[in-house]
Amino acid sequence: MTQQAGYGTTAKAFHWTIVLLLIVQYLIGWLMPDIHRDMKPGDAMTLHISVGITILSLMTARLIWRLGHPVLPERSLPDWQRVTSEGVHWLLYALVLGTTMTGWYFASFRGWSISLFFAVPLRMLAAEGSQTARSIGHLHQLLEWALLVVVGIHVAAAIAHVVIYRDKILQRMLPG
Ligand code: HEM
Ligand code: HEM
Repeated sequence: MTQQAGYGTTAKAFHWTIVLLLIVQYLIGWLMPDIHRDMKPGDAMTLHISVGITILSLMTARLIWRLGHPVLPERSLPDWQRVTSEGVHWLLYALVLGTTMTGWYFASFRGWSISLFFAVPLRMLAAEGSQTARSIGHLHQLLEWALLVVVGIHVAAAIAHVVIYRDKILQRMLPG
């Protein structure tokens, strides 16, 4: 498979759309009411689930697209930066997918019949009260924070390339 020299329009559109949706998703997650026993999902939770499922769909499509469109690393990067940045990128894919799937398990454990944007019903991944779904669902909070930490490292690296290394790494992902 031939490797492209840089990210194309599709890869950039996936990257920035998912960044925007993740910002919205964290805001909803932190602002929505706390979950209590026997509680029914309110509008904020339905919105959180819908945005989350949208992120899951886009990230899956993005991963499939990426596997079919390999991108050459920037040639000026030293080996350690190339290896660590690629590792961080694959970790970001795994954490976004892991966060969405554990959220879905959490909702299934609660027995919530959830819908996409108040319209399309979604299936539960396990029976209500399932202990397996409960254990997987409880990883949701851990993964949210792990994702935030890794995003922080990723963004700090992007800023370091602008202010310390003064190279063109950030431009690789900017529109145009
Ligand atoms: C990458 C996508 C997602 C992010 C970043 C995210 C983030 C969050 C955040 C910040 C909270 C608040 C919990 C806290 O106080 O820390 C939360 C709670 C919750 N999310 Fe998500 N979420 C995502 C996807 C999903 C999906 C796809 C679902 C369901 C289909 C879901 C279901 C839930 C549920 C049921 C809760 C309440 C349980 C709890 O407090 O842990 N989330 N999420
Ligand atoms: C929610 C936050 C973010 C996530 C989940 C994320 C995820 C990713 C992933 C998975 C890649 C690898 C793309 C691939 O090779 O398929 C990537 C690349 C990149 N991201 Fe992010 N990103 C986020 C935020 C940001 C922000 C805020 C910036 C800029 C300040 C940024 C700058 C870049 C750059 C420059 C690249 C290309 C690096 C290279 O040349 O290989 N990202 N991002």
